[in-house]
Amino acid sequence: MTTSSRRYHITTFGCQMNKADSERMAGILEDMGFEWSEDPNQASLILYNTCTIRDNAEQKVYSYLGRQAKRKHEQPDLTIIVSGCVAQQEGEVLLRRVPELDLVMGPQHTNRLKDLLQQVFDGNQVVATEPVHIMEDITKPRRDSHVSAWVNVIYGCNERCTYCVVPNVRGVEQSRTPQAIRAEIEEIGRLGYKEVTLLGQNIDAYGRDLPGVTPEGRHLHTLTDLLYYIHDVSGIERIRFATSHPRYFTERLIKACAELPKVCEHFHIPFQSGDNEVLKRMSRGYTHEKYRRIIDTIRQYMPDASISADAIVGFPGETEEQFKNTLKLVEDIGFDQLNTAAYSPRPGTPAAIWDEQLSEETKSDRLQQLNHLVGTKAAERSQRYMGRVEEVLVEDQNPKDKTQVMGRTRGNRLTFFAGDINELKGKLVKVKITEVRAFSLTGEVEVRQAVSV
Ligand code: SAH
Ligand code: SF4
Ligand code: F3S
Repeated sequence: MTTSSRRYHITTFGCQMNKADSERMAGILEDMGFEWSEDPNQASLILYNTCTIRDNAEQKVYSYLGRQAKRKHEQPDLTIIVSGCVAQQEGEVLLRRVPELDLVMGPQHTNRLKDLLQQVFDGNQVVATEPVHIMEDITKPRRDSHVSAWVNVIYGCNERCTYCVVPNVRGVEQSRTPQAIRAEIEEIGRLGYKEVTLLGQNIDAYGRDLPGVTPEGRHLHTLTDLLYYIHDVSGIERIRFATSHPRYFTERLIKACAELPKVCEHFHIPFQSGDNEVLKRMSRGYTHEKYRRIIDTIRQYMPDASISADAIVGFPGETEEQFKNTLKLVEDIGFDQLNTAAYSPRPGTPAAIWDEQLSEETKSDRLQQLNHLVGTKAAERSQRYMGRVEEVLVEDQNPKDKTQVMGRTRGNRLTFFAGDINELKGKLVKVKITEVRAFSLTGEVEVRQAVSV
């Protein structure tokens, strides 16, 4: 093979977990001698890392796939891979639907990419979707950012939210050991990254599958313990984690976040609905009162904390009244950011076959109402930054204004300010905020500061 025929392209859909998986698969491919190709049409290996959380996410995959499948007829040595959650959900069916595919692999097989590809190069069409014990990662990921890095701490999800495909496609919870996690973070710190985000679909479940309990019957390894355990890794200045589940979010964790200086004061805690009846039918395992208490407690310990969440509108049977309770929760809490979605029935989930499905019109109408309120509240929340000095970790140039750089505050607000990216990338800079918008800020470098290196 010529060098140019050993080029790969990855297109990633979906959540941070998929992005982290793509980085690891890119690392494996580079280890095998493949080179990145920005243009998918120049690549001899195309990998789609897919998402099936909502129907539109899944449909996108099929339209991309159709185009590359056609190309394979002119270029038979093209290797086409579908990984991630659609791959897991569809398995063999995907091969029948798109016979040009070489490899269909579920998320649990991410670290096995090299072995699976070997089978493909030996002339096989391969489907790898059986549940496996996830291998500890031995290849270095090719991380997209050089400033902020993702670290998986727990794979899978044992919850059974009635709308959600994740447990079907990501399998049961598997926590990595604290030692493996710390070793990865130490390496990240040595490479010069300043920020890590610990990842899990239900990160509060971290450690409950690991052996060991305390004399009081508490699991020996919890997310709180993990935060203490990794906190002193040198080079790392900021620690984030996502996604939190209100059912398991503890005051002990909140205290740890308040106490540990590197842990950022930003919490992503999806509530999904503000109505107790809907929450019950979603099998979420908490009430809106409990959710409010969690936020109150966070704000007692950290009055300035940013709060973000996810919410679904138009869950089967959701009445106008119940939807109003979601609006009320959003009004009362004042989220800094909220990811909103119209309910999408997913194959293999209980709620998908319930009778009381709402019309697309009702769903999109409610989504619009909610989004409007979210924008208003986020704009209000942004006001508190006006005139303040915030610490920004510079990630990149502002794509819309090359004279500016951009990064995030500890509270996760995107912030722009004038500066040279070559000089500032990866630095923590004190920025005085001069303009605020609902979801972003603009400022200027605060004079009289020591720029940390
Ligand atoms: N583990 C996280 C979220 C996982 S999925 C949690 O428990 O909150 C990310 C978000 O997608 C969810 O928070 C939910 O708001 C949304 N989502 C999941 N299934 C959905 C569906 N069937 N229709 C619409 N939105 C959905
Ligand atoms: Fe899905 Fe619920 Fe698990 Fe989140 S906690 S991934 S919403 S099943
Ligand atoms: Fe999508 Fe799978 Fe993540 S369904 S949201 S990529 S876990």
